[in-house]
Amino acid sequence: MRRRSPAVDLTTRLGSLVLPNPVMTASGTAGHGHELADHLDPALLGAVVVKSLHAEPWEGNPAPRVHATPAGMLNSVGLQGPGVEAWLEHDLPDLLATGARIVASIWGRTVEEFALAAELLAGAPPEVVAVEVNASCPNLEDRRALFAHSTTATAEVVEAAAAAERTLWAKLSPNTPELSDIAAAAVGAGAEAVTVANTVLGMVIDTEARRPLLGAGRGGLSGPAIRPVAVRAVFDIHEALPDVPIIGVGGVASAVDAVEFLMAGASAFQVGTATFADPAAPAVILRDLGRWCDDHGVSHLGELIGAAHG
Ligand SMILES: Cc1cc2nc3c(=O)[nH]c(=O)nc-3n(C[C@H](O)[C@H](O)[C@H](O)COP(=O)(O)O)c2cc1C
Repeated sequence: MRRRSPAVDLTTRLGSLVLPNPVMTASGTAGHGHELADHLDPALLGAVVVKSLHAEPWEGNPAPRVHATPAGMLNSVGLQGPGVEAWLEHDLPDLLATGARIVASIWGRTVEEFALAAELLAGAPPEVVAVEVNASCPNLEDRRALFAHSTTATAEVVEAAAAAERTLWAKLSPNTPELSDIAAAAVGAGAEAVTVANTVLGMVIDTEARRPLLGAGRGGLSGPAIRPVAVRAVFDIHEALPDVPIIGVGGVASAVDAVEFLMAGASAFQVGTATFADPAAPAVILRDLGRWCDDHGVSHLGELIGAAHG
């Protein structure tokens, strides 16, 4: 028989925002969010983070766009989406109806495009509690780099997102040795939390065709294969910036995986690739996290956050 104890307090604070629990969907892996309602109650999650939105409709990359890899997957979806206005009109209402707390993710190819997407979100209802600025996308004005590979460019896109008049989070890339400086730049520019991390750059070669397998060539690796990379990234940022709230993401497929991120210094976490295997994964992980805390005598989430730093 499971031991009975007072309910574990899973509430978590990310800057000015308090969420009832630390479990979220990861951008791009749960559609526009309302599709989840067939598998779980989106209102039970800390928040639902939707697919990154551009100011305009965006087609994405040529097929094939996904490929299974050992312990993960490689994708080059290329941020396909309907654009902010169509999302507000056609997709958001169904998600609002679920009662979920919603986080809109935005992207752009220039600072100006981030600003445009943010402006269009300014009229979104209050249930859109935060905007996640996906800085891990290519900067047209600097072909060599993602925005999130530069402290200046990261600060610029976060500043541009202020037009959304919402709590801002910055989603960072693990593919840089300057991650803590970039996190500091995001916070200096107005981000209340950093989401760490986006996918790890990768490639698969089709050995028969003697060419890269994905239509776009390079892709982003996700799933359990990248969890140690993401946990290390969270640990580094928490060590350098202990007061900055971190949302951990990368290969969370169980409550124990999530506990790793919390102990590394994350105050919340997102579940991405695991939802492709089981669309109810975020809800299952939430339930199991409560049980894990109960079994380990943890009564408040705060007891776990940063615990691995001694
Ligand atoms: C198919 C797919 C699409 C994604 N689309 C986005 C996106 O639109 N915006 C974004 O910030 N991250 C996107 N990501 C990255 C995820 O949000 C997450 O950061 C990454 O996959 C690592 O987490 P995971 O291992 O739990 O999937 C995408 C990932 C996948 C697999």
